[in-house]
Amino acid sequence: MMHSDLEKVLYREEEIAARLDRLAIQITEDYRGKELTVLAILNGSLIFMADLLRRIPLPLQLDCLRVKSYYGGTVTTGRVEFDHSALPLVHGRHVLLLDDILDSGNTLASIIETIRTESGASSLKSCVLLRKIKKRELSVEADYVGFDIEDEFVVGYGLDYQERYRNLPLIGVLKA
Ligand code: IMP
Ligand code: MG
Repeated sequence: MMHSDLEKVLYREEEIAARLDRLAIQITEDYRGKELTVLAILNGSLIFMADLLRRIPLPLQLDCLRVKSYYGGTVTTGRVEFDHSALPLVHGRHVLLLDDILDSGNTLASIIETIRTESGASSLKSCVLLRKIKKRELSVEADYVGFDIEDEFVVGYGLDYQERYRNLPLIGVLKA
């Protein structure tokens, strides 16, 4: 079973749920009365997105963006690719990006740059479930963070290793 591939569990389902409750309250307060578009970065943020958005009782719009960041094993190669024509129309809207994890920062930096220059959004913030404590290749920050974690490769709750483990309900570190 998937659990036996884990070296340790970082956050159990209940801990994630409790953190999402707090995050959702904060986001709800910050975006009350604003035209909010949530832009979820696929595939990693899928489960986080579903659980977080159901806790936010605002009239928001949801869009998704499929992004590929290239991995050699468990380390990013720094290449990020996405179809710019697939960006939703967010002119005049307040955009909140959702991603699973802030690691090197390449993914968020590249999407933020594109939205800033091409979309005419009224504002742009980002929210990540996890943020690795490390020196990032690019200076990019997340405005909302679920948990700060050590610089270890984690899986579960949407995060994969070679497309596996996304459906684990918890977040854990894989055995070497
Ligand atoms: P970044 O561009 O290096 O910040 O990484 C962004 C993407 O790399 C994330 O959206 C994840 O899909 C993937 N990633 C980074 N670290 C991990 C990890 O520890 N486990 C699984 N995927 C990761
Ligand atoms: Mg991935």
